[in-house]
Amino acid sequence: MKKKILVIPGDGIGPEVTTWGKAVLEKIAELFGHEFEFDEALMGHVAIEATGNPLPDETLKKAKQSDAILFGAVGHAKYDNDPSLKVRPEQGLLKIRKELGLYANLRPILLFDELLDASSIKPAILKGTDILFFRELTGDVYFGEKIRSEDTNTASDLMIYHRYEIERIAHKAFAAAMQRSKRLCSVDKANVLESSRLWRETVQRIAKEYPEVETEHMFIDNAAMQLIKDPKRFDVVLTANLFGDILTDEASQIAGSMGMLASASIGDGTGFFEPIHGSAHDIAGKDLANPLASILSVALMLEISFGLKKEAQLILTVIDQVLKEGFRTNDIASDATNPYQVLGTQEMGKLILKFIAQQT
Ligand code: NAD
Ligand code: IPM
Ligand code: MN
Repeated sequence: MKKKILVIPGDGIGPEVTTWGKAVLEKIAELFGHEFEFDEALMGHVAIEATGNPLPDETLKKAKQSDAILFGAVGHAKYDNDPSLKVRPEQGLLKIRKELGLYANLRPILLFDELLDASSIKPAILKGTDILFFRELTGDVYFGEKIRSEDTNTASDLMIYHRYEIERIAHKAFAAAMQRSKRLCSVDKANVLESSRLWRETVQRIAKEYPEVETEHMFIDNAAMQLIKDPKRFDVVLTANLFGDILTDEASQIAGSMGMLASASIGDGTGFFEPIHGSAHDIAGKDLANPLASILSVALMLEISFGLKKEAQLILTVIDQVLKEGFRTNDIASDATNPYQVLGTQEMGKLILKFIAQQT
């Protein structure tokens, strides 16, 4: 199979982890006889430094011409600490999501049994958890009108949803529920927010088209609590942009770490694959980042964009094996008294490549 893949490493730990996602793609291509042609582009702080623009036109052009995109992360402490800066790294990410029409962000909460002790939640509560989040990605308070008035000392971000935006992601989530355990929980704040009442009404109507799916509606505050109390009660979770952003960072603690959660952003064109974590200034440049979220994002790319199920499964098998043999990065090594072999980013990346080569 011949494919064009654009790599956008971004900032902070983005390049550190994306190196290994790309290396896994190269290894898979070599072993399975695929031809993956790579190109690279700038986004985020590195793009602002080089061009003044967090999403240069050239990046967008290359993105539109590629078959899939592997992204790292954007963000820099300079902007986090100075809210007055108008041009910001995250604008690049939001713009590319909008421009590519990536309205559905799939965030699987994949829990490897070997990582039951990496979570702060009790293993008995976690065991068997398997959740697939559908986070709406191109609407909500992220893209509604923003107003800042120095006259009145106020600022506002409009939380807005169009019915069609809810419908299209709801259909994707229900279709996934049909392929899984036929349970779907839609999360909103319909007791307070008008946009959530449109959300609930729309999801209720679409649910009628999927009578086999057991549909539940839950308020976001309760969902945040239930997710920790009893994560197994969830299967497919459908939610809006901001709620999904927050709930999935929380859910990363089910999988053991932010460094374990991958995502696929899809719409009607090129798919975009990225870890859910950010540029992690606190560990950037220290060889401490867990590359598995990027590598798992590559597995999602292979399966979703290219239909290469066998190759995707091989990556999951290898990660499982590496964990079973006691290898960990710092973030999933639980505590200092553990029996694990703690590896840096690069050692973990190399080990994954070695295990992939041994499997085939
Ligand atoms: P973060 O996700 O970067 O980090 C949160 C915590 O998780 C940190 O303690 C970090 O060390 C840890 N962590 C994250 N990824 C890890 C990995 N692969 N291995 C081990 N530990 C990992 O969130 P933050 O600190 O709130 O944000 C930092 C910057 O990243 C900000 O500028 C923010 O805007 C940006 N951000 C970008 C994205 C993105 O590009 N998709 C996502 C979230 C945050
Ligand atoms: C994510 C990030 C982004 C978001 C930011 C950096 C724009 O937190 O991908 O989860 O809020 O969507
Ligand atoms: Mn986030």
